[in-house]
Amino acid sequence: MKVDVILGLQWGDEGKGKIVDVFTDDYDVIARFQGGPNAGHTLEFDGKKHVLHTIPSGIFHPGKMNLIGNGVILDPRIFVKELQGLDAHGINYRASLHISRRAHLILPTHRLMDACLEHMKGDNKIGSTLKGIGPTYTDKVARQGLRVGDLEAGDFNDRYNRLKSWHFQLMQGLGFDPLGLVIEGMPFGAYEREWFVAADTIRELSLVDSEQLIHAMLASGKRILAEGAQGALLDVDFGSYPFVTSSNTIASAACTGLGIPPQAIDEVYGVFKAYCTRVGSGPFPTELLNETGDALRKHGHEFGSTTGRPRRCGWVDLPALKYATAINGVTRLIMTKADVLSPFEQIGICDAYQINNETFSQWNYRCETDQVIPQLRHLPGWREDITQINHLQEIPGPLMEYIRLLEKELGVPMQYLSTGPDRCQMVALDKR
Ligand code: GDP
Ligand code: IMO
Ligand code: MG
Repeated sequence: MKVDVILGLQWGDEGKGKIVDVFTDDYDVIARFQGGPNAGHTLEFDGKKHVLHTIPSGIFHPGKMNLIGNGVILDPRIFVKELQGLDAHGINYRASLHISRRAHLILPTHRLMDACLEHMKGDNKIGSTLKGIGPTYTDKVARQGLRVGDLEAGDFNDRYNRLKSWHFQLMQGLGFDPLGLVIEGMPFGAYEREWFVAADTIRELSLVDSEQLIHAMLASGKRILAEGAQGALLDVDFGSYPFVTSSNTIASAACTGLGIPPQAIDEVYGVFKAYCTRVGSGPFPTELLNETGDALRKHGHEFGSTTGRPRRCGWVDLPALKYATAINGVTRLIMTKADVLSPFEQIGICDAYQINNETFSQWNYRCETDQVIPQLRHLPGWREDITQINHLQEIPGPLMEYIRLLEKELGVPMQYLSTGPDRCQMVALDKR
């Protein structure tokens, strides 16, 4: 069997969590392959909303294996809080949840370093979620990180103290007093104590050589769904650098983040919103700094699932979507939040960018360095509530036109339309 991948084609928050939850019925294993608790994946069913940060979005389905791959970074304290959320809903994860020993650990000092480095950037700050993502991946690449498997080692505390002391030296060298800083409103020492208690809980979970487990699953014909975090335009290589996250977020990261070969990948599902949002700093060509942008934020409830920050909003960006589709090798599209556009008389689409009097039809290096002027066209809106529709035939004409246009421009068929946050709000488009 093969591995299918679900990932985001914009700047994150496309609705990946909801789609993974809906797709889980068709798979045996759901595996996260990169990112960490910077992600916030929202699932809604039975009138309840759940936000997952590190735990795969298949966790609410009994009998499905949920795997945290080697490419993920994990903060024990945040992770254990997520587990407590599952306990409260009676979810039995002990047998179904597995964590790669090769996944790196986010230490309390990584979070302090994230805050210090952002502070030093001043007006050029990335707008990080301050979960320690950048410093943890930095230590991984610098070959000095600590991994989940290290928790099983007798000398873990010594290794922890060595890395902590290195971080302290760095911060002191930059003029900070680490012991005077707070994390989530707590003094360092108190936070660190909670981190160690949480680390004990992680030790009791199923820690595995996840690449071997995945290969065994593939060999026995199990169906695997790889769940991406963030989005293509936050990818450390291809995103709007430096305003990106510190991991590769694209389809190929499923190979390195799970230990599977490229030929194991089958479908790549690209999830995107019917408009565009971004949280944090960096270029956003179609951003609407006006009442329309405010209306998108209000109707779409565009506030971060992890940090609660207001998301920047704008029209759909075709050049960026074309780029993301190409880089990921997307085979099927899934559009979310079309329902949010129902009140709008006109729907804007960016067809191309003008940069220094040149026209570009794809995202490119100059989008990250120069002033970009979006070339917009407007289509008629559908002005109809679509949150209750279940069938293809019920899709309003102008929305169907919008879907056809996007499929034609991106050269990829659209498989589903998501019409609301709930698990049930999905319309299949592949029966046309
Ligand atoms: P993710 O990070 O890609 O999983 O997305 P988030 O959970 O951060 O943000 C997506 C938000 O939109 C969440 O609040 C979802 O519940 C919600 N959502 C997902 N799909 C739809 C949809 O089709 N319509 C509406 N109105 N909301 C949706
Ligand atoms: P999901 O999986 C939206 C953004 C941050 C910031 C930049 C770097 O929910 O789609 P980091 O904390 O990674 O150092 O922040 O990336 N960012 C996200 N934006 N959704 C996410 O994840 C994000 N994860 C990181 O806002 O601009
Ligand atoms: Mg999110």
